[in-house]
Amino acid sequence: MGLHFPPERMTDLQRSVAAAAEEFGFGEATTCVDWLLATPLTEARLQVLATHLTIGETYFFREKKTLDILASHVLPELIRARRGRAQRLRLWSAACCSGEEAYSLAILLQQILPDLADWQVTILATDINPRVLRKAVAGSYGEWSFRETPAGFKERYFTRTGDRRYTIRPEIAKLVTFEHRNLVDDVSSSLATDTNAMDVILCRNVLMYFTPAQTRKVIASLHESLIDGGWLAASPSESSQQLFPEFVTRNFPGAILYQKSRADWRPALASAPASSPAITSAATATATPAWAPAPQPVPLTTAPPAADTRSTPYALAAALYEQGRYGEAAEMLLAVAGGPKGSEACSLLARALANQGRLAEALGWCDRWIAADKADAAGHYLRGVVLLEQGDPDEARRALQRVLYLDPSFVLAHFALGNLARRRGQHDEADRQFGNTLRLLRRLAPGDRLPESDGLTAGRLTQTITALTAAEPTR
Ligand SMILES: C[S@@+](CC[C@H](N)C(=O)[O-])C[C@H]1O[C@@H](n2cnc3c(N)ncnc32)[C@H](O)[C@@H]1O
Repeated sequence: MGLHFPPERMTDLQRSVAAAAEEFGFGEATTCVDWLLATPLTEARLQVLATHLTIGETYFFREKKTLDILASHVLPELIRARRGRAQRLRLWSAACCSGEEAYSLAILLQQILPDLADWQVTILATDINPRVLRKAVAGSYGEWSFRETPAGFKERYFTRTGDRRYTIRPEIAKLVTFEHRNLVDDVSSSLATDTNAMDVILCRNVLMYFTPAQTRKVIASLHESLIDGGWLAASPSESSQQLFPEFVTRNFPGAILYQKSRADWRPALASAPASSPAITSAATATATPAWAPAPQPVPLTTAPPAADTRSTPYALAAALYEQGRYGEAAEMLLAVAGGPKGSEACSLLARALANQGRLAEALGWCDRWIAADKADAAGHYLRGVVLLEQGDPDEARRALQRVLYLDPSFVLAHFALGNLARRRGQHDEADRQFGNTLRLLRRLAPGDRLPESDGLTAGRLTQTITALTAAEPTR
């Protein structure tokens, strides 16, 4: 979990372990610790430990100045830039606890965006503790969660229930998606886990529980998840310039935000590999299915030749992509006269654009990729994921089904179809797809990296699905 207990927090640790021991059925904390150390740490045990060792303190509009800056500066600027073009916003409450922070973001958007219904809004909210996630999904809160909200707030956005609690209104709740994620061991910026191309990430009041080395790792990983120009907010007590060297520090009245700016962050580029390390084709089938989409018009007079993977722009772009510098990778490929040619170069560009949230362009390059290699399941997968992000679930489902037609063992396509069904309330279909995913995952070693996942391992996806099912309210 990456949690660090310095000597002054030893009493907290003892208290938490004693509570966990009780839940595990041990009278003595030390016996429980011996047992934990002597046996494999299963997902179920990890979840009990996460419940007791993490601190679940949060409330609506906590550290309001940061949210004020989002409402007055950051979000209006994003909205202005995208209105009438790509009407899309992606926010992430990382370590969301019981959901107050994520719902605060949703309420904020409702307040400042009158035509919210015409926007494709993602508010991802993640936490390691399945118990707080269950509370977040239920969306029912007591008075204490509202201690910093103005009069009338509860009445406006919540429904009062008989037990003197307040349940978030469905139109706000539906804006937020809760997922189980461990900030410490999860890969960031993965289309597969929807942690790519974020505009704003709030990661507050959690970094303080990690070691400095762990904190740096988490921040670097969140940096990758942001689009160029995207924003990260930590808690004021966690903000220090040394911890965020890859960001530009932006000082606002009463709050500090960190902005990802490619112009200001240029670590030395590792020597370019001779061939593309980032691209692997997951396709195994060779047949050309009848449903393959017609090639999109390509501004080329002749058929594109196969990509020369040793050509400098391609190799450099692949190396930039590997470093998470997706915007630069895309620009490098787009600068090639006539655009990149061949399935590998098109796929690299499509991925880089998708990771930057440039979805319409990414889709166009997916189409070229598929036109160049119709049997590459990975091309259809990326197309499906991009369509999902664009808010076109029907077309996305068709694309993902094509993936499985080409390669029935494409784990992430089953997972994506499961998520799609879950979001639409089709629980039987979700269970079926998650079941297929788990069955395929069992054939792999926990450390195996899944194709097309940007580094997600089989073990981690297994944990995610297990926790996801645990966080789901009983139906
Ligand atoms: C104090 S709450 C912060 C909630 C909210 N961000 C806020 O500022 O009010 C800290 C949360 O971090 C979560 N957490 C701790 N370690 C984590 C990890 N490794 N990955 C994800 N979440 C973690 C805990 O479960 C807890 O819900």
